[in-house]
Formats: sequence, structure tokens, C-alpha cells
Amino acid sequence: MIVICERCQSRFRLDENRIKPNTKSFTARCSRCRHVFTAYRPVRIQEIPFVDLSAAKHIAHQGNTIAVSNQKGGVAKTSTCLNLGLALTRRGKKVLLIDFDVQANLSILLGAREAASFYDVLQKGPQAMDRAVVETPYPDMWLLPASKNMVLLNKKYFGADDYEYILNDRLNLVKDRYDYILIDTPPSIEFFTLNALTASDHVIIPTQCDYLSTHGVDQILGIIDLIRRKTNPAIEARILVTMFNADETAACVIQSKLQELYRGRLYQTVIPHDGRLREAQIMSMPVYHYDAQSHSGQAYMALAREIMESTGRAKQNPA
Ligand SMILES: Nc1ncnc2c1ncn2[C@@H]1O[C@H](COP(=O)(O)OP(=O)(O)OP(=O)(O)O)[C@@H](O)[C@H]1O
Ligand SMILES: [Mg+2]
Repeated sequence: MIVICERCQSRFRLDENRIKPNTKSFTARCSRCRHVFTAYRPVRIQEIPFVDLSAAKHIAHQGNTIAVSNQKGGVAKTSTCLNLGLALTRRGKKVLLIDFDVQANLSILLGAREAASFYDVLQKGPQAMDRAVVETPYPDMWLLPASKNMVLLNKKYFGADDYEYILNDRLNLVKDRYDYILIDTPPSIEFFTLNALTASDHVIIPTQCDYLSTHGVDQILGIIDLIRRKTNPAIEARILVTMFNADETAACVIQSKLQELYRGRLYQTVIPHDGRLREAQIMSMPVYHYDAQSHSGQAYMALAREIMESTGRAKQNPA
């Protein structure tokens, strides 16, 4: 097995036979930096425990912070943040979107290029979070934009003591003002994704129904398991099928496979592949705003309802 030093990130090969049987964790010393830390046996994905999302009612007081995460690129993380965010506002919720991806795609779609970002929040005092959050063209939706210089944060903080909690600590100052906080993460596992997962109550894992994407799901579930053991024991994960084309045999086969493998851990809502969503992005708009009757716009409204019900916050608001 491979062990990674939690301080200097050096990787070592370790013979599993040297670890006592039936132990999940053990103490390791890094032969490079001499740091002593707790390491874990690798866990097969099928063994990862999932708690039913209905249990989330009991942690509702922690706020509804949701990371949208998958290290696979182009699976609709950003599209989900924007469109789910809008759907939640249409269902009467106050939503903060956090663009935690240096690509700044969410900020571009919301017309907030070159604005202050989490980088500025960390350069200035605790009140800087308030100043960096901007209004969006949509009522009840706010944005903490991304900027190019955020790349420096990865260099500066990745691997430092307790670096995973930096976003969580800042969010605690503003959480009460929003019903939902959605965090868009990059297609990689580093400072931003690990901070987002540590700060979140839930993770939405968007995936397409193609062969390689299902491997991406396995990988991100493995990362979430590590997060659960290290920084955020209560985090819940659910898989969202995106860009689904029911006319494609391969997509249908893979969807059934996902249902079989991750029974009860998929959202019931499936986001269809929809040209209207692409058209909406050209206009820098959420699809529901562009065409309320579109299949994807309706699907994101259904997803918002499903999430509100599972987080115990559904209110008597049809729409
Ligand atoms: N339901 C959909 N139907 C059709 N196209 C879609 C749909 N959802 C997303 N797309 C398109 O797929 C592409 C990737 O979407 P998006 O940028 O949201 O993915 P991402 O996971 O955030 O990518 P990255 O990993 O680069 O951050 C975009 O061109 C987007 O317009
Ligand atoms: Mg993106």
C-alpha cells in the first residue's frame, strides 16, 4: 500500500503484512521529515459507510453547505452550482455561491470577472468575507467570486497545519445569513477541494453516464472517506447523474450499474442532456431563467426540491 506523509506529502510503499491484522489505522513515521502521524489502510469503495441523507435533519443546525465536487473534469459541477443555486432561490431560499475554482467559470457566468475573491479574504481581516461577496443579477443569490491569484493560496497553504479548515472558519462568520451555500470546486484534489469538503455538510458528485466517469465517482468517494475520517466526520455524499441521454444504450447501461453499485446514494433527479442549457450559457444565464420549460431547468427545480426535502428545510412553497 502507499502511505502519504500528512506533513510533507512524501509517498512511501509499505508492505501491508507489517500492519496488525484487523486494524484500520496505525502510527507511521515519515522517513523523510520524521513526522509521526496516523495512517489508514486503504478502504474498498464498497466498504465506505454511507448514512441515509434523511439523517441530515439532525445536523441541519450546522447549515446547508454543499460542495459540488468531482475531480473528473467537465461533468457539470459549475452548471450544477449555477442552476441548482437559481432553483433554490426560486423555491424561496437565500443562496451563496462560492467559486472555489481558479478557472473562475462560475464567476464568468455571473459577470464577476476580476472581482475580489477568497484570496483577498485571506489577505485582509475577518470582515473581508462580507466585502468580497457580491450580488448577482438574480434576487436572493450572492457570489464569492474566484480570481487568478487564488492559485497562490494552493502554494502558500497546501500542507500547512490545519489548512483544510481555512474556508470552514471563514464561512462560520457568515453562514447564518444564507439558507444554502453551494461551493463549486476544481477538477482536482488540492487546497480548494479539501477545504470545500471540510466545510460542507453534503457533497453532490455530478457524473456523466460514461465508463471513465464511473471511475471518477469511485475516486472521489475514496477522498470523501478520508475527509470523513480526518476533518469532517458528518459529511454526506450523493451522486447526481448529469447530461443524461436516455436514447443512448451505453448511458442507460451505466446508469443501471451506478444504481446497483450505489443503491440509495443517487439523487432520484437526473439532469438530462439539454441543448437549452448550452444556449443559456452562451447568454450567461441559468437555464431556468432562459427557458423555464426546458428539460434541464425543470430537472434542476426538481433537484432543489429533493435537496430541500432531504435537508429538512422544504417549506410549503409549491412552485
Ligand atoms: N445538462 C446539460 N446538457 C448539455 N450540456 C451540459 C449540461 N450540463 C453541462 N453541460 C455542458 O458541459 C460542459 C461542462 O460543464 P461544466 O463546466 O459545468 O462542467 P465542470 O464539471 O464544472 O467542468 P470543470 O471540471 O472544467 O470545472 C459545458 O460546456 C456545459 O455547457
Ligand atoms: Mg467547473
